[in-house]
Amino acid sequence: MSSSESSAPLVLGIESTCDETGVALVRGLDLLADVTASSMDDHARFGGIVPEVASRAHLEAFGPTLDAALAQAEVELSDVDAVAVAAGPGLSGSLAVGVAAAKALALGLDVPFYGVNHVIGHVAVDSLVHGPFPESFLGLVVSGGHSSLLHVRDIATDVTELGQTFDDAAGEAFDKVGRLLGLPYPGGPHVDRAATGGDPAAFAFPRGLSRAKDLQRHPYDFSFSGLKTAVARVVEGFEDRGEEVPVADVAASFSEAVADVLVTKTLRACEIHGVGTVVVGGGFSANSRLRSLAAERFEAAGVELRIPPIRYCTDNGAMIAALGSAVVAAGATPSPYDITIDSQMPLTQVVMGEVTVAEVA
Ligand code: KG4
Ligand code: ZN
Repeated sequence: MSSSESSAPLVLGIESTCDETGVALVRGLDLLADVTASSMDDHARFGGIVPEVASRAHLEAFGPTLDAALAQAEVELSDVDAVAVAAGPGLSGSLAVGVAAAKALALGLDVPFYGVNHVIGHVAVDSLVHGPFPESFLGLVVSGGHSSLLHVRDIATDVTELGQTFDDAAGEAFDKVGRLLGLPYPGGPHVDRAATGGDPAAFAFPRGLSRAKDLQRHPYDFSFSGLKTAVARVVEGFEDRGEEVPVADVAASFSEAVADVLVTKTLRACEIHGVGTVVVGGGFSANSRLRSLAAERFEAAGVELRIPPIRYCTDNGAMIAALGSAVVAAGATPSPYDITIDSQMPLTQVVMGEVTVAEVA
């Protein structure tokens, strides 16, 4: 721990937006503990997250996860100076468990309570790994639930949304294509592996919202449903003809289309907004083609690429504790105790209860 950080407030972060129960402790930019329990195994047989099952799993996992985090950090609950929780966006029942727990802990400890934005947390966590952020940068958050491009001037106070997906998230599109190709759920990593050795140019799959007129209106928005339909047509074509589906070529061409659109639109935003750094977060950042294409094209463009290790890209408590720590350091007003969860929390709102940048503008 750096000595300048040793006096910073100890922030407890709680994450329960989807199927991961995460509890972490951060002081300044130092991560002292990060413990995650996942209910994914309970959902796999249903081929998707079952919200009711996820909520119950959070309730069961929360106590043990909190205890494990305190033990890992070698601190007492009474040492905690502030409690941050992901208050949205996410599954309502899952969010409610974390928010109720956070309120109870903050009230019991008599410390400030902050309901923070899960998606912005995916960006914030990188500061624990790669250090303080530059004055202006982009955050690309890609997962099973989100595909969002954010312009961040201050992670605690000033985030604007440049674009998002109109339909499927990048990981969700991979999961659906995985199903089309007969691969297990969640399909993303399986499609990624299947793409190895495939020809990325075998099929000319569409790049969503990339034609000139779409680019004018939606320069930084994404759409993956047309791409998914195009993949389905190709797969059905082979099946109808009684031919074997060339899984590697389909997976590689599909992966290329998704990575190409994400990288192209992000670099365009860097150029237009004069930004030299991009932070990538979310579970989809594990995708090997996204990583290789981004590394290659960002270097050519002279743009710095920051991607934290994958355990900090999937949902975890560290991302919420990191954002909580930034918010506390910025002197943000704590959330009132009567806040509820917001499954559609706007991406311009860092802390629940505050006035959003969009409302001010
Ligand atoms: O962030 P995350 O763990 O959960 C949320 O959605 O919040 O992201 C999981 C998503 C799933 O859709 C999964 O299939 C996808 O990311 N994914 C991948 C890869 N690893 C995870 N998709 C493509 N390639 C991968 N290597
Ligand atoms: Zn997430």
